[in-house]
Amino acid sequence: MQELDKHKAFELASPYPYTLAVTLDKRERPNIIGLSWWMFTSWQPLMIAISVGHQRYSHECLELHREFVLCFPSEGQEKDAWLCGIKSGKKIDKFQETSFKPVHSKFVKPPIIDGVTVAYENKIVDQIKTGDHTIFIAEVVAIHGNPQKLNHLYSVHYTKIISASSQGDINLDLEYK
Ligand SMILES: Cc1cc2nc3c(=O)[nH]c(=O)nc-3n(C[C@H](O)[C@H](O)[C@H](O)COP(=O)(O)O)c2cc1C
Repeated sequence: MQELDKHKAFELASPYPYTLAVTLDKRERPNIIGLSWWMFTSWQPLMIAISVGHQRYSHECLELHREFVLCFPSEGQEKDAWLCGIKSGKKIDKFQETSFKPVHSKFVKPPIIDGVTVAYENKIVDQIKTGDHTIFIAEVVAIHGNPQKLNHLYSVHYTKIISASSQGDINLDLEYK
């Protein structure tokens, strides 16, 4: 064993499932943020937590509307998914700047991104400030998916996207930048 700095540790412990959280802003315009800091927190009821930086546009959207859709983007969506992790909705409309197509959710106002592997509709029930991020804790109210889009995206630190499936197929050579 050797002592590591946090960047090396993040890189070594990669890859992490890379998700997209869709929210609504104050004008009810949908916004998308790339997130690798998410987790399930309860099985019954099914609950999910996401950790969002205080400076992110999505942070104010989440505080305002208390709902989000957590999407697992599929292989083929890597270019658009990457853009959502490097550009802020303060400056651009990410549904306009990408080929992502919004689809109506069943129980929440933010839309689902069409073509993702799985999408969870969530209603926020609690939040905790943790350093420079807030953990938003939410109950899952509906689940959607595309069983034919098995390969979905993983991030290697904050520098690379790869894809893998529940069947063990891995693609390390995606073009997305
Ligand atoms: C691979 C990757 C993972 C990320 N994970 C998170 C995360 O878990 N939490 C977070 O607040 N930002 C995360 N980000 C950064 C945001 O996606 C980024 O700052 C985005 O531009 C914020 O968009 P917004 O201002 O429209 O909300 C990540 C970025 C990348 C590239």
